[in-house]
Amino acid sequence: MSDPQRPRASLRTAVVWDVLEDALDRRVKATGKDSLDVLDTGGGSGNFAVPVARLGHRVTVVDPSPNALFALERRAAEAGVADRVRGVQGDVHGLFDVVERGGYDVVLCHGVLEYVDDPAEGVRNVVEALRPAGALSLLAAGLGGAVLARALAGHFTEARRALTDPAGRWGEGDPVPRRFTAEQLTEAVEAAGVEVGAVHGVRVFADLVPGVLVDTEPSALDALLKLEEAAAELPAFHSVATQLHVLGEKRG
Ligand SMILES: C[S@@+](CC[C@H](N)C(=O)[O-])C[C@H]1O[C@@H](n2cnc3c(N)ncnc32)[C@H](O)[C@@H]1O
Repeated sequence: MSDPQRPRASLRTAVVWDVLEDALDRRVKATGKDSLDVLDTGGGSGNFAVPVARLGHRVTVVDPSPNALFALERRAAEAGVADRVRGVQGDVHGLFDVVERGGYDVVLCHGVLEYVDDPAEGVRNVVEALRPAGALSLLAAGLGGAVLARALAGHFTEARRALTDPAGRWGEGDPVPRRFTAEQLTEAVEAAGVEVGAVHGVRVFADLVPGVLVDTEPSALDALLKLEEAAAELPAFHSVATQLHVLGEKRG
């Protein structure tokens, strides 16, 4: 049975959590350490950091938002992992002002690249924070998912604008500053010295399905989760995913 404290319970994070949990397991076996040093850049209030700490790992969260760090502290305390979660105010551009270069077994960068000034530099920094053979978990907004969502909502001009805009934005009211294709993300991480292991499409269907279909039929949520898992690794679905997840290993 899924643990409601874990992101597994959530449609928004289920695929990423499964991939991340496997990656952590593999690093534990490869390093021979029970407890890994994990860095969560832009980790916010701990959606991933707290469940990772619950697995026994030490997690440093770097985030520019004092409010997020305050929420993180409270959440870590409630989950009984305050001793394994450290929140630090900072950002990916000045990452080494606040954390050690090459000091981490696993680095997470989830939902952050969209917001940073220079995504290529952001990726270089998160990779530099890794130890050799360390694992990178990168999650960012996908271009195709936004185009599809705008089109299905009847906003055809906005959908076309996102398709042609260099940053993948559908208009001035778009809350997301930047979106990526799978190719852009894999090229950026490879250029930074990471061997890409897997790319997953995240929320391929979840954001397009009317909530009522999932809310009224108890088995529907589970079936939708299984469908998301089945489609996630198929390249055909990467181009329509709301988010893209790249898992890689730092070259030694
Ligand atoms: C969409 S939230 C994602 C939070 C968390 N990683 C998750 O997956 O739930 C984006 C986070 O990125 C942080 N952020 C924004 N700009 C950043 C930067 N330049 N460097 C690091 N974090 C940043 C925000 O404060 C926020 O906590």
